[in-house]
Amino acid sequence: MIISCDKCHTRYKVKPELLNRPIVKLKCSHCQHIFIVETHKESAVELHKNDIVNQAQVIAICNQKGGVAKTSTCINLGAALAEKNKRVLLVDFDVLANLTLSLGYDKDVSFYQLVQTGQDNIASVIKHYSKNLWLLPSNHDMNLFPKYYMQKKGFELLLKNQLKKISKDYDYILIDTPPSMEFFTLNGLMAADLVIVPTQCEYFSMNGVTEVEKIIKTIEEKYHYQLPYHVLINLFDSSNTAAKVIFNQLNKQFNDKIYKTIIEIDNKIQEAQIMHKPVINYAGDDCKAVKQYRALAKEVVTTS
Ligand SMILES: Nc1ncnc2c1ncn2[C@@H]1O[C@H](COP(=O)(O)OP(=O)(O)OP(=O)(O)O)[C@@H](O)[C@H]1O
Ligand SMILES: [Mg+2]
Repeated sequence: MIISCDKCHTRYKVKPELLNRPIVKLKCSHCQHIFIVETHKESAVELHKNDIVNQAQVIAICNQKGGVAKTSTCINLGAALAEKNKRVLLVDFDVLANLTLSLGYDKDVSFYQLVQTGQDNIASVIKHYSKNLWLLPSNHDMNLFPKYYMQKKGFELLLKNQLKKISKDYDYILIDTPPSMEFFTLNGLMAADLVIVPTQCEYFSMNGVTEVEKIIKTIEEKYHYQLPYHVLINLFDSSNTAAKVIFNQLNKQFNDKIYKTIIEIDNKIQEAQIMHKPVINYAGDDCKAVKQYRALAKEVVTTS
């Protein structure tokens, strides 16, 4: 039976005989949190590292405001995690396929072909970009998803159900979503264990964060589980007075949900995209964006 710690979400395969009492206390060996499944027992049953089911942490990158660096965060955080020896799959879940194009791939195949042809082999459409970094690409055919699948029961679980099949092959799966709250973003959120909401320090982007927060709360209420999220301040310009005002407002409103790492404006990000590379593979160690995405990867690993 698979049980997940209700604090850090580490999943364990628990032997049924440990759960043969009405209520059982379990202690997570990852975060030491003690949680109750159902128990009358006094002492906690200690879970062991060997019981941990190797499953990727799935992170959806969402904000319905356009141009807040969702795709750039996906590529560059992904590459920084890969550099830390984490096996990372980037999922392009946007019909515009910016992520696919940014990594230099043609828009020849996508998740749509997989679902449409009823193939069961999701791995067959995945491309290997570089050491520890893979891409599930997108193309225009993804446009057909809302048309043919939106009315079908359980449409919002299409991506989650496919990712489950390959989850054990990766440490992190990062999903890039479009700037709207519909089929693709909903699928991304439903597949996620964690949501990263990139935002500029700008009024409409901040409003986008509040909208994502509302959808997350709706999902939590409807499906009875917790979906943690973090806000990532991106494209920050410290010379902009209005940006500083919004920065303070964001900190007041979202407080400990905000990553300590801030990604500032750096043209190397755009140059790297033209060269079809993550900034880490393009610019040197002294590049501001490289340092900041490395810091973000460290923060994601330690806080998730
Ligand atoms: N830190 C940065 N410094 C400078 N430019 C950046 C930075 N991050 C992203 N950009 C640029 O900002 C633009 C928007 O970024 P990106 O495409 O990642 O946003 P997005 O939220 O995915 O947009 P959309 O909502 O359209 O999908 C791109 O041209 C990208 O190269
Ligand atoms: Mg994008």
